Amino acid sequence: MTTSSTAESTSVVKDGVHYHQFDVVIVGAGGAGMRAAIEAGPGAKTAVITKLYPTRSHTGAAQGGMAAALANVEEDSWEWHTFDTIKGGDYLVDQDAAEILAKEAIDAVIDLENMGLPFNRTPEGKIDQRRFGGHTADHGKTPVRRACYAADRTGHMILQTLFQNCVKLGINFFNEFYALDLITVKDENGDTQVAGVVAYDLATGELHVFHSKAVIFATGGFGKIYKTTSNAHTLTGDGVGIVWRKGLPLEDIEFFQFHPTGLAGLGILLTEGARGEGAILRNASGERFMERYAPTIKDLAPRDIVARCMVKEVLEGRGAGPHKDYVYLDCTHLGAEVLETKLPDITEFARTYLGVDPVVEPVPVMPTAHYAMGGIPTNIKGEVLQANDKIVPGLYAAGECACVSVHGSNRLGTNSLLDINVFGKRSGRNAVEYVQSADFVPLPEDPAAEVREMIEGLRNNTGTERVAVLRKKLQEEMDANAQVFRTEETLTNVMGTIHDLRQRYKNIHVDDKGSRFNTDLLEAVELGFLLDLAEIVAYAARNRKESRGGHMREDFPDRDDENFMQHTMAYLTGDPHSPDPEDHIRLDWKPVVFTKNEKGELNYPPLERKY
Ligand code: FUM
Repeated sequence: MTTSSTAESTSVVKDGVHYHQFDVVIVGAGGAGMRAAIEAGPGAKTAVITKLYPTRSHTGAAQGGMAAALANVEEDSWEWHTFDTIKGGDYLVDQDAAEILAKEAIDAVIDLENMGLPFNRTPEGKIDQRRFGGHTADHGKTPVRRACYAADRTGHMILQTLFQNCVKLGINFFNEFYALDLITVKDENGDTQVAGVVAYDLATGELHVFHSKAVIFATGGFGKIYKTTSNAHTLTGDGVGIVWRKGLPLEDIEFFQFHPTGLAGLGILLTEGARGEGAILRNASGERFMERYAPTIKDLAPRDIVARCMVKEVLEGRGAGPHKDYVYLDCTHLGAEVLETKLPDITEFARTYLGVDPVVEPVPVMPTAHYAMGGIPTNIKGEVLQANDKIVPGLYAAGECACVSVHGSNRLGTNSLLDINVFGKRSGRNAVEYVQSADFVPLPEDPAAEVREMIEGLRNNTGTERVAVLRKKLQEEMDANAQVFRTEETLTNVMGTIHDLRQRYKNIHVDDKGSRFNTDLLEAVELGFLLDLAEIVAYAARNRKESRGGHMREDFPDRDDENFMQHTMAYLTGDPHSPDPEDHIRLDWKPVVFTKNEKGELNYPPLERKY
């Protein structure tokens, strides 16, 4: 056994595994993870483990803004924001959580301003605000300017600001450490207790055990189950997959958001902030088609609606281009100055990746897989929930990997940067409170055993299948069968594909046998998580025989509140890698939380969703 000491921690090496001890371990250094670290760091010995260097996290790709009813430029209120969030989520939103999100939004923005975030300003020096889809004044009457923004680099600015503040606080970062297991132990009642995390150091190939009292998952989404996506290559759902494999449930996993304006054929995001600034969607004949579908707020309807309308235009033959397979985002009337100053990144993206200059010509766009509404179930404190809403003591989740649920079946744009700040802060704060009185749960004899077995199993597998081939097949089939429109038949098709891919995955070959930055091995591990998550998405989507928010079933085109105004809960019942989902997934339901006024009336009764 050897001991090494650094400024931030003392680690012990035993049988080739490094052991560390922290009060709080945060997995993921995007916005949610770093916001949690800023709360936890000053009160508890805190470490952040991250697969990527923190400023490369995917929060940096969020463009257009962060919602908060500051009312800096137009009348607004947090109640209107709550209403819009609930209606935007097609009434599957837990209303207590949405009220918190909208109310705490204002402080969340001020916190960031105080940390030094350079928001765009009004001429009087206030934080400027722009329009975004589904955000309205007075319950849907007209679009409202609610998104606080930093050009079209809001996520980038948030990430940099949070990282700088983490550095200022001396938070311990373990960069390029890939978390692969949550260490859990059963107590005498058979209840799950959390003892830490096992991570793989990408630079050395060594395993590290982080023994901790509390763990916060903030690992982002899993958009790479799709081919056409705005998500980075790294968004493979590792955190959600780890929690799932540990036997904890997942919530509302069938609801995946397709952002309307991805660059056609590529999926690279063009912010909704462009439409917030006045850009217009047009079909091949130049018609502003959203006027037909959402006459009040047109191009600024929520994303699920706009994405469906775009696909419908194409399916009905009004698409543009040689294959009539996209529509246009027309920014030409905004003028060069607005584009270059308020939307500089997307202007450059269109020029670079499609050779189209938005100043003078419309940009080809189509929906792109963007955001997972579902994930690890939590309460409003960020505590992870298992069956019967029982808390897993010491385990927290925040951001896209979590399901609070503030987004219901369709998230409004700009509510994600808000979510990471509000619930990142809450989970960090509650974790610190928890560790003050909690003890360390003793580690099992060899906590890294399962990870070692998985890694060595993959590295030494003598099969013939290539990871890239399997991943491509998965992504193409998810695009074809579980995208904006789904049916029983398409979902059954893709489940068949996933079944085959699972078999083939057992026979994969990893060329690189080395230890240093073995991305070949990393991608093999990631594919395992992608297969797990794609399977649950398709299985839960097939089970929800209605259309709601981001889940549009052509064979069940209406929302069915009587039978399906409920969250889907997926439970692991067997070996997660057995080929048939029936053998290891059980689906159940959980009621949506509705809030009521003092007379016992619903604050936000379900409405027909017209815009
Ligand atoms: O369109 C965008 O800028 C994306 C924002 C979001 O997903 O919230």
